[in-house]
Amino acid sequence: MRDLLGRLGGFGYGGDYNPEQWPPEVWAEDMALMREAGVNLVTLGIFSWANVEPEPGRYDWAWFDQVMDLLADNGIAVCLATMTASPPPWLARLHPETLPVTADGTVLAPGARQQYTPSSPVYRRYAVRHAEALATRYAGHPALAAWHVGNEYGCHVAESYGEVDAEAFRTWLRERYDGLDALNTAWSTAFWSQRYAAWDEIQPPRTAPTFGNPAQRIDFRRFSSDALLACYTAERDVLRAITPDTPVTTNFIPLGNPALDFHAWAAEEDVVSYDSYPDPADPQAHIMAAYSYDLMRSLKGGLPWLLLEQAPSAVNWRQVNRPKPPGRMRLWSWQAVARGADAVLFFQWRASRGGAEKFHSAMVPHAGPQSRTFAEVRELGADLAGASEIAGTQVPADAALVLDWPSWWALEQPSHPSTRLRQTEADRAHYAPLWRAGVTCDVVRPSAGLSAYRLVVVPNLYLLDAEAAAHLAGFVRDGGHLVVSFFSGVVDGDDRIHPGGAPGPLAEVLGLRVTEFWPLAQGEHVELAEDGGPGWLAEGRPHGTLWSEETRLEGASPLVTFASGGAAGHAAVTVHAYGAGTAYYLATRPDAESMRVIMDGVCRSAGVGPVWPGLPDGVEAVRRGPYVLLLNHDDRAHDIPVPAEARDATDPRGNRVGAELTLPAADALWIRSARDL
Ligand code: GAL
Repeated sequence: MRDLLGRLGGFGYGGDYNPEQWPPEVWAEDMALMREAGVNLVTLGIFSWANVEPEPGRYDWAWFDQVMDLLADNGIAVCLATMTASPPPWLARLHPETLPVTADGTVLAPGARQQYTPSSPVYRRYAVRHAEALATRYAGHPALAAWHVGNEYGCHVAESYGEVDAEAFRTWLRERYDGLDALNTAWSTAFWSQRYAAWDEIQPPRTAPTFGNPAQRIDFRRFSSDALLACYTAERDVLRAITPDTPVTTNFIPLGNPALDFHAWAAEEDVVSYDSYPDPADPQAHIMAAYSYDLMRSLKGGLPWLLLEQAPSAVNWRQVNRPKPPGRMRLWSWQAVARGADAVLFFQWRASRGGAEKFHSAMVPHAGPQSRTFAEVRELGADLAGASEIAGTQVPADAALVLDWPSWWALEQPSHPSTRLRQTEADRAHYAPLWRAGVTCDVVRPSAGLSAYRLVVVPNLYLLDAEAAAHLAGFVRDGGHLVVSFFSGVVDGDDRIHPGGAPGPLAEVLGLRVTEFWPLAQGEHVELAEDGGPGWLAEGRPHGTLWSEETRLEGASPLVTFASGGAAGHAAVTVHAYGAGTAYYLATRPDAESMRVIMDGVCRSAGVGPVWPGLPDGVEAVRRGPYVLLLNHDDRAHDIPVPAEARDATDPRGNRVGAELTLPAADALWIRSARDL
């Protein structure tokens, strides 16, 4: 990563470059426009496999050589794709067994992209051979700066259920379990006569008469993430052997698609990279975008990451595809930078004339460089070039949210007290009030080191083993503040209920037991009343949604109580002093305003504060190294009071910051201020 940064001398800026869609005359214009826009990094060749290897083993490198040379001549570094995300049609013709199969047995045909099952040894053989040929050809090429393996693994095909996959699943299970008895216990196969007497009886969780075995499903998700990861590591190993000094990454799919366990994947990358597509039609989209950037930064313990794709304006894949209004693309790019990105790239450089994505925006739109989009692209390129001192710096955080993929997979299984629980909605409900309070958060796995944090928030950790629970309890015992919401600590790693029920191994630290779940229907809510004195609920008619429950308090004190519904009279929010710390529990999803009041109270008690106090709603401030980045997501200008401590700061133009500064609508700026505000 250092190499990449050092080489670029600041932020990476550019996009997916797909020259095979254009005649060579256009390439020359591309180079001129890239220079004009300040592009210094492109991802190249992502969908070039069929054009480079038109028949198995016959390579046509000439045109690709030419593009690599052109980029090098123009001072543009290449994050070179291994081209394996979309196999050429000949692979399916020669080896139809490489095609993915859905749970109901449908074979997915070629004609789109990602038409391979990751478990196919044939696909892996061809993909690795291709990566090897590419690395051999371009090792030492002056344009080569990084490797981009595959593309958005798991984006379209997260799981495949064919015979090849069944075989690979069994092999994976044999490694995971110490014999069939252990598997039978872990999968609770005594239930519904599912006991397996031979490994060959085990299938992927294909379409079945009714609810499948949940432990089998969760293991299949683990297996599927690992199967894709094995494709990635096989290619990576070949690249590393040939070009040991070139960093390797793969662009993660936007958060929301839970196909990959990012924690396991990030450990195998030299640098984390991410594709971000917030919806311009959603006025709150920037909040979960911030959350996903905090996650990317946390995946490698705070190291900078790369924003490898975003849309310059509209996408093509929503029902109604709204463009980004003026300034929004720049603002959202700065938001990624504020939260630790060291590169800002787009999908894609030039808008396609044909194909499924011809209506997707691009840095050079169909209308050409005389367009608002290109003008904004050029402006952002200049902006980032002038801010290169920020690149490489880190983002401090006193608070963390916990996210765990196996728990996410397990949470969203059917046949639960409620199928309305969604991991990302839980994350949003807990993250939004912290974002609004201006508190910077990391997003970490349950077993992460927590000693750097004062506050740890667990939105919904349904699946939790005793070890991870002990780790969270230890954090509180040592003086930390912990917030845990309902339906956490329910099952162990095998999706088996913890003895005594929820919150299982968290019962002691939270000081309570759940005795009955009372989930709420769509539109249903329960009234909430203050219990432990005022200050824990919003004014008006505070209420809980989604969930309520009966609890037996075993040391915890109620702060808020259910005033209506099946759990009326039971605690809705509790606090429990444990060791040197404090643990809070939320037995419902309070309305957004109450959630804000609760989280503000918890932050005060934990001693966690905003980066920049007193900011208006919609204005975000994030510290990166000695810089504070200010972002106005509102559609009107705001006058921002500058704390006395920041008055010796300077803005990007070298102006001393006064007692107040004005931040126009959808604008961003950064100041240098070594001292905390
Ligand atoms: C990403 C993908 C790109 C492009 C883009 C469109 O998921 O990696 O190749 O399809 O979406 O938004």
